[in-house]
Amino acid sequence: MDFGHRVAPAQGLAKLEVDALVLVVAAGAAEGSLGAPLAELLADAVAQGDLALKKGKSLYLHRPAGFAARRVVVTVAADAEPRSFKAAVAQGFSALKGGGARSLAVAWAGPGSMSDAHAEGAVLALADATYLYRHTKPSAPAAWAAESLTLVCQKSEAKAVQAGLGRGAAIAEGVTLAREFGNRPGNECTPTWLGQQAKKIGKAFDLEVDVLDRKEIEKLGMGAFLAVSQGSAEPPRFIVARYQGAAKGEAPVVLVGKGITFDTGGISIKPAAEMDEMKFDMCGAASVLGTLHTVAKLKPRLNLVCIVPACENMPGGRSIKPGDVVTSMSGQTVEILNTDAEGRLILCDALTYAERLKPAVVVDVATLTGACVIALGHHHTGLFASDDGVADKLLAASRAAIDPCWRMPLDEEYGEALKSNFADMGNVGGRPGGAITAAMFLSRFTGKYPWAHLDIAGTAWKSGTAKGATGRPVGLLTHFVLGHAR
Ligand code: BES
Ligand code: MN
Ligand code: ZN
Repeated sequence: MDFGHRVAPAQGLAKLEVDALVLVVAAGAAEGSLGAPLAELLADAVAQGDLALKKGKSLYLHRPAGFAARRVVVTVAADAEPRSFKAAVAQGFSALKGGGARSLAVAWAGPGSMSDAHAEGAVLALADATYLYRHTKPSAPAAWAAESLTLVCQKSEAKAVQAGLGRGAAIAEGVTLAREFGNRPGNECTPTWLGQQAKKIGKAFDLEVDVLDRKEIEKLGMGAFLAVSQGSAEPPRFIVARYQGAAKGEAPVVLVGKGITFDTGGISIKPAAEMDEMKFDMCGAASVLGTLHTVAKLKPRLNLVCIVPACENMPGGRSIKPGDVVTSMSGQTVEILNTDAEGRLILCDALTYAERLKPAVVVDVATLTGACVIALGHHHTGLFASDDGVADKLLAASRAAIDPCWRMPLDEEYGEALKSNFADMGNVGGRPGGAITAAMFLSRFTGKYPWAHLDIAGTAWKSGTAKGATGRPVGLLTHFVLGHAR
């Protein structure tokens, strides 16, 4: 895909030679400001009742007279905000999807200017419109083969637009990678496979990538992680991948991704309905590796370490049982009351491992709890943080990336629920506040650095006819990491 910009006044739009021009107008905008022939065309469409200048509306025009563009889609944004613009662009692309348009242009009729965030949004909207999973479905109809995207802007906007295009293209690659990983079936996307993919990213960008096997994980004393993995015939992997863009001594940003390549629940087995979706239980890992790809591509001046504990959660003769007590790498003991609360068990050892990296900050990303889906639905990722500064940075990154998250509480009182008579803590805290008690559990392993946790159980994939990984929160994570560049 080629991305670029073109400086042109609104009046020049008619002369733009592309397969398709997507023109975004704001709801309630005055058509007159656009100049001929657009103004007349819009006025007529509105007068004829074919287009309402209301958010979400759009109009497809094939070979409209007076335009060099072979197709024009007018699409209406709620307002001038980047997220409204992105939604309107997505709407415009959906009108073109599956058609023959290869070269595309997007123009913003205003009010206000086109920013880097607008440009990034347009690129990500296109990446989404052209993504199609076909790895295990080669018979799927071909994806929309769009080839280039030109953003039409003013001269004063060109620099920002170009920066947004570059960042958007890199994020789109990370998002696509995370979606591809997430969508792979569990029989292909195993811990071993994830380790190989991490190595592959390392090779592509000359990164240091270590993939530890069971013996090495045992040596580190990761009793909680190993306990989850012991029920599966698939050997576990512990992935540590380093991007070095600053001096060696510079404290790294550390991202930790939950890599359960399939979550049956273990002995506390899950019901059959929708269990297939538990192949997405490694989407935290996928998002972290996707972000690594994006960051390595953008080469900012910072250090980043990505950690992925990867294993399956299976029932079997060697599986952990409710009531089993394990010793985590931190030395704290955990009574496993529910083997389906396995994510926190593999993450706690990864969080302890992170201490040795002397991190500036650690953010873990996990499809951790069904309770988070109940609390926030499928729009906001759950954000939990011990540190207000980190929380604010993540919230800002989430807004900038149009990748929403919402902060949840983490008061010490919630920790009460984790009390156990047989270990330092239990691994579950009952149904009330389930996403919070899970985060509380993780916090017990993060005393030595600023830390935050993202619960992506509701946002990492979609169910139903649109079933598939979303690639979230690669955008959020990328913006957060880039904020640490010097
Ligand atoms: N991977 C699941 C969380 C999950 C469930 C995400 C459904 C998205 C949809 C996690 O390992 C899990 O099973 N959590 C349990 C925790 C409970 C046993 C305390 C849950 O949410 O039910
Ligand atoms: Mn589980
Ligand atoms: Zn899980």
